[in-house]
Amino acid sequence: MQTILVTGGAGFIGSHLVPMLVGQGCVVRVLDTLAPQIHGMLPGDGLDWLTNTANLEFVRGSVTNEVDLRAALDGVDSVIHLAAETGTGQSMYEIDRYCRENVQGTALLVHLLANGAAPSVRRVVLASSRSVYGEGAYVYSGGQNAARITPSSRTAEAMRSGQWEPVCPDTGAALTAVPTRENDRTAPASVYAATKLAQEDLIRIVCESAGVGYAILRLQNVYGEGQSLNNPYTGILSIFSTRIRRGLELPIFEDGLESRDFVHVSDVAAAFAKAVQAEVSPNCVINVGSGVATPVLEIAKSLCRAFNAEERVRVSGQFRLGDIRHNMADVNRLRSHLGLVPTVELEQGLARFASWVLAQPLPEDRLDQANEELSKRKMMG
Ligand SMILES: NC(=O)c1ccc[n+]([C@@H]2O[C@H](COP(=O)([O-])OP(=O)(O)OC[C@H]3O[C@@H](n4cnc5c(N)ncnc54)[C@H](O)[C@@H]3O)[C@@H](O)[C@H]2O)c1
Repeated sequence: MQTILVTGGAGFIGSHLVPMLVGQGCVVRVLDTLAPQIHGMLPGDGLDWLTNTANLEFVRGSVTNEVDLRAALDGVDSVIHLAAETGTGQSMYEIDRYCRENVQGTALLVHLLANGAAPSVRRVVLASSRSVYGEGAYVYSGGQNAARITPSSRTAEAMRSGQWEPVCPDTGAALTAVPTRENDRTAPASVYAATKLAQEDLIRIVCESAGVGYAILRLQNVYGEGQSLNNPYTGILSIFSTRIRRGLELPIFEDGLESRDFVHVSDVAAAFAKAVQAEVSPNCVINVGSGVATPVLEIAKSLCRAFNAEERVRVSGQFRLGDIRHNMADVNRLRSHLGLVPTVELEQGLARFASWVLAQPLPEDRLDQANEELSKRKMMG
């Protein structure tokens, strides 16, 4: 029976993963601050499972606090490191906080591992993000050159003139997005992404030198029941669901054809459970996604249908600096290393999500406020 520490285990992914691990016979300890941005100012609603599940211990504390983290690591076989700040736009101005929580928290974790403070730990699994790729992999359109290319971030000037698709940086030639592989170039386009890449490097370097097994899961857009409905900085489906329930229009950035790889949280939880328990430690990066790119305009309309609501969508032509254009994972490694194929189809997942949302209190719509913050800081056009 494995004892596993899950940092940030009270959050969205943790709320699926932790019960799954317990159900598979593991003993789990959760270390979580219950951050107000995620859980509200008075956390409690919906968190009973943390304190009344057998083989589950909840500790309120931070990965950035050495006393909390040392105690949480005591006697555990593995660590699944989920704790992080996750808002891409917000990370562009709350830089110090994002680096402290994401980078310093991970640095403290590996510092303790490297210095013998957690001798029982045999494996660390990190929740990383596809954002580390930046724009991700492309090939030249028209098939004149099959070479893979990872374009740089789109400039504000290009987006202001409605040139949404990344182009070849040398020739300006048109490009077509292809599924991004784990060994494609990383090129973070936001502070959040930079902190995730720093987390990856810290885990890989220290685990390899300390002889601790590891796996780095690069998650695509995770959605599903339990997603924070309070956080206006991340989670497009949560944000849209609140607006649908309030009868508000859904503003779609760019031309609506930007795409994301949506993967249901139960498939993501299964990937973590496998990565931490697989007999052979993966010791590599693994993409976790559906492998399918869905345009944002299309997902907005599908979500309206899942709520049986009128399709009130408006393509705004606005944009956020740091956003990528397309997102689609190559999931061959997920299959070969973890033996997993995502099982939840998008339509089925959206129906599950919508029926869960409808059973929750109706949150304030804070999208306009979050966008105003970005505009004031010239992060939006
Ligand atoms: N949800 C996604 O679409 C997605 C995509 C890519 C990567 N990820 C990564 O997966 C991980 C989990 O994401 P999530 O969607 O469950 O996020 P979440 O915000 O729902 O959960 C994060 C949890 O971490 C806790 N936390 C924050 N700072 C902490 C600290 N210093 N110490 C202890 N706990 C702390 C929060 O209270 C929260 O419960 C994150 O590392 C995120 O970067 C998520």
